[in-house]
Amino acid sequence: MAKYTTIAPLYDLLSAEYPIYGAGRRRLLQLMDLQRGQQVLDIGCGTGLNFSLLREQIGAEGILVGIDRSAAMLARAQRKAERNGWKNIILIHADATALDEPSVSAHVVREGGRPLADAALATYSLSLMVDWPRAWRVMWELTTPEARLGICDMQEPNGPGRVCRPLAKAVCRLSGSDIAAHPWTALEHDCTNVLHASLRSGHVQVRTGSKSQGV
Ligand SMILES: C[S@@+](CC[C@H](N)C(=O)[O-])C[C@H]1O[C@@H](n2cnc3c(N)ncnc32)[C@H](O)[C@@H]1O
Repeated sequence: MAKYTTIAPLYDLLSAEYPIYGAGRRRLLQLMDLQRGQQVLDIGCGTGLNFSLLREQIGAEGILVGIDRSAAMLARAQRKAERNGWKNIILIHADATALDEPSVSAHVVREGGRPLADAALATYSLSLMVDWPRAWRVMWELTTPEARLGICDMQEPNGPGRVCRPLAKAVCRLSGSDIAAHPWTALEHDCTNVLHASLRSGHVQVRTGSKSQGV
């Protein structure tokens, strides 16, 4: 993750949050509609751009567990949490494709035993992981049977936005994302009650759903 070590200090400024990508995380959180007191996993949390939105929903009594394999990105997330006085955020430096219950238990203690979360989301992170299906399994395995799961990620723009395809591809190449990965297809396949949104000429894809049986 050398790329993200270099990018980390400028990530919030350069990530086109306001014109493009912030809209996706806001829509995802609207659709996920998390409840106060819930425990949420943020997979590939980066500098914590989801944290304030998550905090609005789960409140100070919820628990937010951010996982990222870039120490530099996590350091920014930690600073953001401290600046805002958010005390219910646990950050884990780990490869999300190699996470298991014992490695989360080492950081998160949950009343009644297993550290399973009520929800998990990944925004603009699964498409960076070569083995994103494994990270999806991790989201599945580390959440309760009733959990709500969410993905926001990128694809090539369509419609009138097609003219921006070269730019979108360049941005994804620079950030290390595979624009053709389409990780939300796993959620569509495995979850029930799937809600979706398509923003910015289809470049930003949002999906959320509930866990179903038998996967
Ligand atoms: C484009 S940033 C997105 C960050 C944040 N989710 C957001 O919405 O702004 C992608 C993040 O995924 C992280 N990442 C990539 N591969 C990962 C992996 N295998 N395990 C954990 N984090 C990973 C990177 O370090 C980076 O912080």
